[in-house]
Amino acid sequence: MMKWLQDAVFYEIYPQSFYDANGDGIGDLIGIIEKLDYIKELGCNALWINPFYDSPFKDAGYDVRDYKKVAARYGTDEDAVRLFEEAHKRGIKVLIDLVPGHTSEEHEWFKESSKAEKNEYSDRYIWSDFIFNGIEGHPYIGGEAERDGVYMLNFFKCQPALNYGWLTPTEPWQKGIDDPACLATRKAMADVMRFWLEKGCDGFRVDMADSLVKEDDANKSGTCRIYRDILPGLWHDFPQAAFVSEWNNPDQAINGAGFDMDFYLNHPGNGVNSLFRDYITEGEDRSFFRADGHGDIMKFLEEYQPRYNKTMMSGYISLITCNHDTPRLTKTLTKREIELAYAFIFTMPGVPFLYYGDEIGMKYREDLPTKEGGYFRTGSRTPMQWNSGKNLGFSEADAADLYLPVDDAPDAPNVEDAMKDPDSLYHTVKDLIALRHAHKDLQANTYCEVIYAEKEKFPFIYKRGSFIMVLNPSRETMTNIIPAGFEKVYGIGDIEALPVDESDVLKVGPQSFAVFKATTEKAREAAIAWKQ
Ligand code: NOJ
Repeated sequence: MMKWLQDAVFYEIYPQSFYDANGDGIGDLIGIIEKLDYIKELGCNALWINPFYDSPFKDAGYDVRDYKKVAARYGTDEDAVRLFEEAHKRGIKVLIDLVPGHTSEEHEWFKESSKAEKNEYSDRYIWSDFIFNGIEGHPYIGGEAERDGVYMLNFFKCQPALNYGWLTPTEPWQKGIDDPACLATRKAMADVMRFWLEKGCDGFRVDMADSLVKEDDANKSGTCRIYRDILPGLWHDFPQAAFVSEWNNPDQAINGAGFDMDFYLNHPGNGVNSLFRDYITEGEDRSFFRADGHGDIMKFLEEYQPRYNKTMMSGYISLITCNHDTPRLTKTLTKREIELAYAFIFTMPGVPFLYYGDEIGMKYREDLPTKEGGYFRTGSRTPMQWNSGKNLGFSEADAADLYLPVDDAPDAPNVEDAMKDPDSLYHTVKDLIALRHAHKDLQANTYCEVIYAEKEKFPFIYKRGSFIMVLNPSRETMTNIIPAGFEKVYGIGDIEALPVDESDVLKVGPQSFAVFKATTEKAREAAIAWKQ
């Protein structure tokens, strides 16, 4: 497992909306450089930057027109190199976004591929051989190209699917994954990765990582084989490079394909959803972190634990505060509920990701019309709020020229005020990250064991090495037992351990969280043996 990931805390930057250094109304790479000290002070030591490549921006840059060119609106390739260098000077690693499953319909490869006469790119995308042969189970487009057949889409209409081949071809136009045409796609993508690694990035967040082979088996063994071919070659030359997949199946992504980390994403009805965004179940929000949700930690653990058990020796599950595709937690959770959610995220194993603006509790903007294919996601993509000045410090441009409007609510949070207020969410985030950096047992690797978790009951207690975490998101008060010799090193709300003989009595107040650390060798041993 990549060593630097052990203590990594990532910060995700949506470059359009982070900081506009040249006053044209949209964020840029120089803007990110100018804010690196802020990120460092917060405690994050790694970045994930959403796509910054040349693009028609019909899907916010996930429709790449040129993988090797920074979009003019963000700057130049030289700015990207400077960003990597400046980040490294501050001990910050930088992962950039790789979109391997599709390109923009305006990519040169696709223009060539659409031509009637055969050329090097004819099979770079998935085309059927005849206009009326649809591609079963996959959306496709016909009637737009000179050549015969229809082409398959990977996401929006503007995103034709690259051709990595078929695990078991059944039609003459389907190639096997080791066909020279498909190997050429694979090689082209590895070449893009190499291009940016040579320029100094530290790895990639891989978009729709599981989508390469369209007709795959249940284990995605075709797609896994492709990564198993690409990644070791890159690690040979860039041994520190790290890769995080948008897969949401860590066993496949980590054990199958060889990724270092896999995101645990919010999908309707899944474990993460039950924690934070279980908005409507029989008309009620049952989210575990809602004080009135009467939520059930087992909905999360029943899914999480098998995933964790299968991957804890080989890679990391990444819990996220949010991302550019998901409504921010402020949509439904209060400040205290969010603090408890973050306390959980930053004390769990794996590698955590913080989405820009989540450290100050930026709102989810329900009211905004879609921008660049954002739809409901647009509400989580608004400009970062730096201070109370013009455009909340995001840009010097006229408000009408901003990429998206800034939050105009009188109580819109901003970084400057949050830093001054010791009770702000910003300080909770900063303290939690500092706590994690200070103790190896709270970082990515140390084994996490559930001590107490019961359906619709509180608290949730888990331990990692010499540390015990107690989490009660409900409004109830309860009493538990904890081995003697533990000291509270971090707490939210009313929670304490009172010494009574051999063990201490834990008094757990409403909406509280605490981290207890063994103070003696005896306590450490007691913690190891402790079950409830
Ligand atoms: C996942 C990305 O996170 C999302 O923003 C994008 O629209 C799709 N993949 C398509 O690339």
